Amino acid sequence: MLRRIKIIGTGSAIPPRVITNFDLEKMVDTSDEWIKERTGISERHIVDKETATSDLVAESTLIALKAAGLEAKDLGAIIVATASPDTAYPPTACWAQKKLNIPGIPAFDISAACSGFLYGLELASALVESGRYRNILVSGAEVMSRIVNWEDRDTCVIFGDGASSVIVDRSDGESGIISSYLGADGTLGDLLYQPAGGTRMPASQETIDKKLHTVHMRGKEVFKHAVRTMGDAAIRVLKEANITNKDIALFIPHQANLRIVDATCRRAGIPMEQTHTIIHKYGNVPAASIPLTLNDALQKGRIKRGDLLLFAAFGGGFTWGAMVLRW
Ligand code: UT7
Repeated sequence: MLRRIKIIGTGSAIPPRVITNFDLEKMVDTSDEWIKERTGISERHIVDKETATSDLVAESTLIALKAAGLEAKDLGAIIVATASPDTAYPPTACWAQKKLNIPGIPAFDISAACSGFLYGLELASALVESGRYRNILVSGAEVMSRIVNWEDRDTCVIFGDGASSVIVDRSDGESGIISSYLGADGTLGDLLYQPAGGTRMPASQETIDKKLHTVHMRGKEVFKHAVRTMGDAAIRVLKEANITNKDIALFIPHQANLRIVDATCRRAGIPMEQTHTIIHKYGNVPAASIPLTLNDALQKGRIKRGDLLLFAAFGGGFTWGAMVLRW
């Protein structure tokens, strides 16, 4: 059954500083050729010293509000999906709320790594449908540059910083979520995680010396799971929506690696021409990847009202999800 919600505004915040593959060649033993061939990434954006995740949330929110013809005071709730929060607590959503100066409404984070935006959208749609909330902000935001190990070529070459926000309200027309699916498998958590800094391994001199506060990833294994899980999730929501890949105007996948996107598309039978990607210029921006791609596709005129969009995500946890949305 169609869940009548509508994305009424979108906006992205991309830090101006660019780090190219050639810059990385000077930092770790890598090459532009390797990074491009193995990941599809040419460059990524990185924040300056003063900027934290909530700053990008606030900046992208103001743009999304303007697009929706609203002001910050019109928001009903703030949901931030992030794997790189400002602080363990309070939530990054609360720091963004402070910056937007709209105390009072609920504000909280979703920690579901790269799948966080789809988790957030699912939750926002339930809140809107309950009839008790309107104009919910869902932001995917990351400052990965602060939590990657810049000496580890396995990880530092793929991540980037950025945020993108959407505002979700009820729909009176045909716009809405036609099918969606979320999943997780915590037994595989340590294939992609940040070991130290929580209650399992609090900060100590040793954790700092061993750089255990940075992203640890078993890339090859994550890759295989990502392709299988995103591909199968996409097939599942298409089936539940009673449509085929031919009905989809655009596929918007999470982008950790262009080869993952390519293999996922092949598994789900979706041509690459039907897929919008931005990884070449932004890298993997975990929870922000999908909304950044959505906003980019909108700006490039690839989406019009009434189109069927397919989303699929996969990330640490492992977590995953997919959704068919009528724009
Ligand atoms: O956001 C969601 C979660 N994240 C992901 O989904 C990421 C999933 N994983 C990946 O994208 C890929 O596994 C990576 C990009 C991380 C690595 O690519 P790969 O094709 O799986 O490379 P690999 O780990 O199998 O390494 C192949 C070779 C190795 O050398 P040897 O052993 O063949 O001599 C690595 O040491 O490439 C080497 N290598 C590099 N060489 C140059 C690994 N990283 C680099 C590098 N530059 N940055």
